[in-house]
Amino acid sequence: MGARIAAHFANAGFPVDLLDIVLPGQPKRNAAALAGIDSASKQRPVAFFTDAAKALITPGNFEDDLSRVGRCEWIVEAVAEDLEIKRSLWRRVAARRAPGSAYPSRRTRCSSFSALPRGWRRWRCGSCTSAPTSTSTTLW
Ligand SMILES: NC(=O)c1ccc[n+]([C@@H]2O[C@H](COP(=O)([O-])OP(=O)(O)OC[C@H]3O[C@@H](n4cnc5c(N)ncnc54)[C@H](O)[C@@H]3O)[C@@H](O)[C@H]2O)c1
Repeated sequence: MGARIAAHFANAGFPVDLLDIVLPGQPKRNAAALAGIDSASKQRPVAFFTDAAKALITPGNFEDDLSRVGRCEWIVEAVAEDLEIKRSLWRRVAARRAPGSAYPSRRTRCSSFSALPRGWRRWRCGSCTSAPTSTSTTLW
């Protein structure tokens, strides 16, 4: 999901940082993000319009690279459907994001917004991407 959303933005010409977990026992710290890009490249319908679009994605991980969110205007969270995982990441992103950046969450159940501290609701929003993934996006 995250890699295909990243492809959606890269296809439009935006540079994207794709962060994921560090996989235990994996020597490559960015193995999970790289696997997502690789998987998106092989799926049909194709995720990347061109190789140049694919090159706009820089892989990273939540442990070493989360400070990169400070240079982003649009931060899309698409981690596993687990509210504790999402809350934990939201807190870490909140401490690093640039003022004015938008932060849509990918969540099938929108009730997660009610779990947010009041101040955060000003800069968060939901996003819904229609099937096939990443052909259109609605924000609320
Ligand atoms: N609104 C919509 O249109 C829509 C549609 C489909 C999915 N979703 C939502 O998008 C999100 C992602 O869906 P998915 O199917 O790709 O989920 P998934 O379970 O495949 O996981 C997505 C990512 O979460 C990462 N992850 C796993 N454990 C983690 C942890 N402890 N900390 C941080 N990251 C971790 C995984 O490495 C993976 O890259 C879900 O919340 C899902 O409900 C929304």
